[in-house]
Amino acid sequence: MRVADGGPWKPAILPARLRESFTNGIIPTMTITYKDEAGIAGMRVAGKLAAEVLDFLAPHIKPGITTNELDMLAHGYIVDVQGAIPAPLNYAPSGYNPYPKSICTSINHQVCHGIPNDKALKKGDIINIDITVIKDGWHGDTSRMFQVGETSIAAKRLCAMTYDAMWHGIMQVKPGARLGDIGWAIQKFAESNGFSVVREFCGHGIGLGFHEEPQVLHYGKPGTLDELVPGMTFTIEPMINAGKRDIKELGDGWTIVTKDHSLSAQWEHTILVTPTGYEVLTLSAGSPPPPAFVTAAAQA
Ligand code: MF3
Ligand code: CO
Ligand code: CO
Repeated sequence: MRVADGGPWKPAILPARLRESFTNGIIPTMTITYKDEAGIAGMRVAGKLAAEVLDFLAPHIKPGITTNELDMLAHGYIVDVQGAIPAPLNYAPSGYNPYPKSICTSINHQVCHGIPNDKALKKGDIINIDITVIKDGWHGDTSRMFQVGETSIAAKRLCAMTYDAMWHGIMQVKPGARLGDIGWAIQKFAESNGFSVVREFCGHGIGLGFHEEPQVLHYGKPGTLDELVPGMTFTIEPMINAGKRDIKELGDGWTIVTKDHSLSAQWEHTILVTPTGYEVLTLSAGSPPPPAFVTAAAQA
């Protein structure tokens, strides 16, 4: 989601509507929701379904297929097989036109929110497919990178590094850690490998709402911002560019591309803060395994 004007919520930029609802001199800077056992159960189901849509699409992602065809396949699977709702369809946050499709497909220099169309994928493309489903009111949000046929070494490296960057962020998640720890881990890893981190879009709280607080920035300083508490659910979804971090929005009001037309990659998981660490809610049989540094840390 787009970072709110002025960056993370600060009292000074709280909407008047929220400011007025507190009369005791205290202005809350966040309205994070915490999930109880029933909420967590709902989030687990929604998360797995979102991941399973990606498993279902994976074998279809080949040269010649159009993103509209992928959108129609996903729509049919979500609605008819899963009995769920594709959250993007007609999603209209303030300032946006309703999103016209059921999935986001962002190819090559497209950073995020690419709208499916009738253009065919071609050998060498890299594509992010971002799926959000609603099941019994709960949202699951996840995205992966896919390679269309054989791709360049540079493209493969960007996709692999972005995957690792996401996991460096996930590994920070435990009670008492702070949101800034997540952003810092991602930024440090990405930049030390010569890539840049998109600043204008961030991860987000998620639950009965698609985009809840807090904002989960993919850059930052350790020990800053909100403390993580068991029951929080949010996404981590770094957008990493091979070139400069600058982006621009296309005339369709949705598609974001890199200003320098360099390749961009993104991966996304929905995460639960548990009493001891984290649980990834958007795993499925077809999810790529966590990187070796994650499994090594879990065994240590
Ligand atoms: N799934 C995206 C995210 O990770 C949001 C897409 S909004 C849409 O937050 F309307 F473009 F679908
Ligand atoms: Co998201
Ligand atoms: Co998403």
